[in-house]
Amino acid sequence: MNGTATLESVEYKHIQVRPIAGTMGAEIFGVDLAKLNDEVYDEFYNAWLRHQVVVLRDQDITPDQQVDFAMRLGGIHFHPYMNGMDNHPEILEIIKEPGDKYTFGSTWHTDQMFNPQPAKATMLYAKESPSTGGDTLFANMHDAYDALSDGMKTMLADVKTWCVGDKFRRSGGSRRKDRYQGNLKMAAKVRDAGNLQTESAHPLYRTHPETGRMALYLGNHVQTLEGFNDAEAEPILDFLREHAIRPEFTCRVNWKPGTITLWDNRSVQHHAIADYSERRRMHRITIAGDTPF
Ligand code: SIN
Repeated sequence: MNGTATLESVEYKHIQVRPIAGTMGAEIFGVDLAKLNDEVYDEFYNAWLRHQVVVLRDQDITPDQQVDFAMRLGGIHFHPYMNGMDNHPEILEIIKEPGDKYTFGSTWHTDQMFNPQPAKATMLYAKESPSTGGDTLFANMHDAYDALSDGMKTMLADVKTWCVGDKFRRSGGSRRKDRYQGNLKMAAKVRDAGNLQTESAHPLYRTHPETGRMALYLGNHVQTLEGFNDAEAEPILDFLREHAIRPEFTCRVNWKPGTITLWDNRSVQHHAIADYSERRRMHRITIAGDTPF
């Protein structure tokens, strides 16, 4: 679906949609990604644009099939400094073992926002999940934008954020870009996809390129507001960060092996909850996006 999509009064013939929260998010039934025809795909895509976070249960697909689905959704956004799987560099395998302290993605963020063309969407496929915990939270940045006062909308209408991918330094303080240079296989793919850049400016309020809706575009890569000094930018960003994740803007996804969730990074922030100690293993693909405007 290209251009501005019409999302009103859709009746689906092939899929069933069950919303999971008031603000956004839905479970979708009637989709088997192992045999996806064009009609079902079109309905699925429309439902995804409408609900922003969609959950498919009991999927059983190979890595090749996951990559094929990602290609259909817009192609691969190769991560500039994380290794993909040996035979499938498009897929990041995210594993947390019992006893691991670090939980990948456990801050509010929008994927690869430091890049000039951040990821359009993220597809996360649960291979192993804890018996309790390990859910992912999502926050609706359309509703967050809409709920701002006219004064805040006007004052910050043309402001850009400065987004940096090197904020969190865990490996001896080196820059992620430099660490990744050792990974020559990925280096070629990332370079070919034009994704090397880890610092970018983006509109604070962005327009969704397919639906035309406005969204607050925020995430943990945002360092400051361009043209503001820190003393000015920090309180504004503190307010916006807190505002963006108000409970009424959120939904929550619980994972079972076979669950696939696709979310729209152009209108959603997400946060992996670090509340479990059993093994969790996910296959993650980020979908190539456009320059935000
Ligand atoms: C991510 O931040 O992309 C991963 C979220 C998760 O593991 O739940």
